[in-house]
Amino acid sequence: MAKDWNPSSWRAKPSLQMPHYEDQTALDQAEAELRAMPPLVFAGEARNLQSSLADVAAGKAFLLQGGDCAESFAEFNANKIRDTFRVILQMAVALTYAGGLPVVKVGRIAGQFAKPRSSDTETQGDMTLPSYRGDNVNGLDFTPESRVNDPARMVKAYHMAASTLNLLRAFAKGGYADLNRVHGWNLDFIKGSPLGARYEDLAGRIDDALRFMAACGVTSETVPAIRQTDFYTSHEALLLNYEEALTRSDSLTNQWYDCSAHMLWVGARTHQEDHGQIEFLRGINNPLGLKCSPDMSADELLRLIDMLNPDDIPGRLTLIARMGHEQVEDKLSPLVQAVKKEGRTVVWSCDPMHGNTEKSSSGYKTRRFDNILAEVRGFFAVHKAEGTHPGGVHFEMTGQNVTECVGGAEDITDEDLSSRYHTHCDPRLNANQALELAFLIADELKAVRIHNNLQSVAAAAAE
Ligand code: PEP
Ligand code: CO
Repeated sequence: MAKDWNPSSWRAKPSLQMPHYEDQTALDQAEAELRAMPPLVFAGEARNLQSSLADVAAGKAFLLQGGDCAESFAEFNANKIRDTFRVILQMAVALTYAGGLPVVKVGRIAGQFAKPRSSDTETQGDMTLPSYRGDNVNGLDFTPESRVNDPARMVKAYHMAASTLNLLRAFAKGGYADLNRVHGWNLDFIKGSPLGARYEDLAGRIDDALRFMAACGVTSETVPAIRQTDFYTSHEALLLNYEEALTRSDSLTNQWYDCSAHMLWVGARTHQEDHGQIEFLRGINNPLGLKCSPDMSADELLRLIDMLNPDDIPGRLTLIARMGHEQVEDKLSPLVQAVKKEGRTVVWSCDPMHGNTEKSSSGYKTRRFDNILAEVRGFFAVHKAEGTHPGGVHFEMTGQNVTECVGGAEDITDEDLSSRYHTHCDPRLNANQALELAFLIADELKAVRIHNNLQSVAAAAAE
């Protein structure tokens, strides 16, 4: 148990990026309502995720974390949830097949409703209003009414998260994720493309393997791992009123868990050691993520590791590096070296999105597919040089056919961005781009697998 901690101890500290609520009575009411709600996840599930992440830390698995930058109340619907889920399944099979490692699947979903912003205000024409901070806080419409911080939004976010999670659980355990359906996960708009063909080829090889296994008596009836999967939820622990209200003492262990999601992470703008978000996270027992930006020093990182994982529990802490493609090798290497030198157990994951945001010539916030890929490759190169495990990736992506990031096999151009630019916050990979990237990362993972095999053969020969 963390010392001198309770679910509200963050309140004694300053916290950045938190909304100010004018109506204290409405805030008290929303928090009370959330405190009375059932937890969204069970602590035992968070422990299962932690143990899978411990496998990642040990180099025996790979983490795939992805979903919207900001989930939206307006776009909430079953097809959107299903499409995100199935693209993640498709990406996971590509990665598993090439890397020969289990893939731990974690969505940025069912709670990713609060956003940090670089400016407190937004100006359009001659009007300046408070910035949009995610549907959990205020509305995206550029009107004074919509931009008011409304605590009742937290209750709505809870209900949206609950129904999202309900559908995800049904998909994960109810037959949708059965490996025998691997062809069925291919999305219509991908099917006709070269990428769709690559996926069909992979699905065909999986079919062959399943047929062989079935002949040996291993089928989805006999082995649950073939017919179902584990899918976990995560979001940024930013809006602490919401997180505190969903924090419960686990009846099995008497330990505190934030039951709003399986995994929570702290963003690049809010990880000050003496601030509220770190105070809150250090006391909950869920697996945690820590975004690492290029301005983070090795000393700062080690101090944060001491605060968030003082007992060096494997799987407890995932370091999500978001350095930008130009800086990744220079900035990540010293951090990886410092963590290795101190012998700390972490999962290293690569967020190639947040250090690669730019403004397109058409005025849209965008990211270039090539830069995203370059950052992932830089991440793999650093880990190869240091002999550490490139543990995972963290994407902003959607199962929809949007046009928000430029490049990729479909070659989305700056001019195309306006046609289907739907994000509420940062630009996401569309389904095609996400799957294409998964295949390219699969090639990197395959190279790691071959390198490791060669090394163990050489070590055995030297004995
Ligand atoms: C995010 O993940 O949406 C985000 C805001 O990232 P970061 O804190 O790394 O900027
Ligand atoms: Co984002």
